[in-house]
Amino acid sequence: MKNENATAPTIFLIFGATGDLTYRKLMPALYNLILDDMLPESFSVVGIGRSDMNKEQLMTKLKEGAVSFSRRPVDDEKWTLLCKNFGFINGDFADPALYENVNKAVNDFKAIHPERYNVIVYLAVSPVFFGPITKNLAPYSFIKRRDQTRFVFEKPFGHDLQSALDLNKEIMSVLRENQIYRIDHYLGKETVQNILAFRFANSFFEPLWNKNYIEWIQISSLEKVGLEGRGGYYDNSGALRDMIQNHMLQLMCMIAMEPPISFAADEIRNKKADVLHAVRKYSEQEVFQYTARGQYGAGKIGDEVIPAYRTEKNVRPDSNTETYAAAVLHIETWRWEGVPFYIRTGKNLSQKATTIAVKFKPAPSYSFPKEATNNWKSNLLVFNINPKMDIHLMFQAKVPGQMMQLSQVNMEFDFEKELTANTPEAYEHLIYDVLEGDATLFMRSDQVEAAWQIINPILNAWQNNKDLDFPNYAPGSNGPVKSDELLAKYGHTWLNP
Ligand code: BG6
Repeated sequence: MKNENATAPTIFLIFGATGDLTYRKLMPALYNLILDDMLPESFSVVGIGRSDMNKEQLMTKLKEGAVSFSRRPVDDEKWTLLCKNFGFINGDFADPALYENVNKAVNDFKAIHPERYNVIVYLAVSPVFFGPITKNLAPYSFIKRRDQTRFVFEKPFGHDLQSALDLNKEIMSVLRENQIYRIDHYLGKETVQNILAFRFANSFFEPLWNKNYIEWIQISSLEKVGLEGRGGYYDNSGALRDMIQNHMLQLMCMIAMEPPISFAADEIRNKKADVLHAVRKYSEQEVFQYTARGQYGAGKIGDEVIPAYRTEKNVRPDSNTETYAAAVLHIETWRWEGVPFYIRTGKNLSQKATTIAVKFKPAPSYSFPKEATNNWKSNLLVFNINPKMDIHLMFQAKVPGQMMQLSQVNMEFDFEKELTANTPEAYEHLIYDVLEGDATLFMRSDQVEAAWQIINPILNAWQNNKDLDFPNYAPGSNGPVKSDELLAKYGHTWLNP
């Protein structure tokens, strides 16, 4: 059932309306929400952007984006309904007049809906503008409506620990934490949310979910794509900041958190923050023992020629930026003592696959005849998050016949086959949650800071020590040999898709 917030008249202000995110993700998500009747009856989108175009040109561009990126075909009537009150404020984010115009748009909306209305301020802009835009809006009275005005911040939230602390301080001098929605789009994915259902709505795995039964956990986000024209951003970021600090640590939290006592936003976020706080922080020396990094050279994926990273547009020719990162993390709690969490991500790899694999300790084999145990394998649970969406449980079974022969078999739950409901995109989920005022799937300030505390020593060690082996992996491979060697130290191997 929709709550009061989700049905209240809403003005949705998008800073960065002429940019790529609005084009590819936000407007297609809003369109799908209106199609599912999930937007309030009175809903106005106001775009705010710097590009030199007028409202009609922007609307034409955004419709093109919806046609290309919406998961369902765009119906003219519904699109017109979404855009019936569309407004565009064109100007520079440093210009005070722009904020006067934004305030006027809010006041005009308020004049029509004096009793109750929501203001959503979506910052789909470069993070350098997060602080200035928030501060420029500070004087206006709608900011002080703590329950009805909400700000959404895109990633990356900070460049390192200090900048994240500074940014939190800056925006929290204007806003309260309950008004702030820091996006991590992985948390909006159906398959990620399902981890909570799988773990806490079923009784059969939770008793085994600890160091007594689990040998290791692997979290991989392998990407086939490369920089996609984002060389300038990526060369100052790298795989660690781009994927591990946010998405992958969040996946780890979902898998490793203690059972919540309720699904209240802060309860879930407390339990996740506990996981991050419990991760062992490495010294600069230890970093090289527990991590591996890579950068791709020139090569081919299928027929596509991939230039070496250092020759990509807007990348420094001597760049030390990693396009692949792997780490072994240790969560120092009673539950996870001694269980390694292996994490890896990279660009231009053999395929796109985001997976979480949980390897159980082997069952004792002494009661079986020797020949039956030749192929002894322990149980493996695999969550395919993206693009495949399924859960597999591998277990041993007897091969039919006179002899006691064993084979590993696979039990599968496929989202598409079993639950063919209309699956919303991550941004649809997250935008709807913002409308509802539900912050469960958003990062709280302490979570962001705790994640940076884990990553910061690795960043420093990697920055201060240039990797002389770069480039060290070929496009289309599964990453650098060093990453395999990292797991080999523990007697383990990566589970490649
Ligand atoms: C983004 C990163 O946050 O996530 C990109 O900036 C990456 O570099 C993307 O490609 C991956 O998201 P998904 O949903 O395609 O796995």
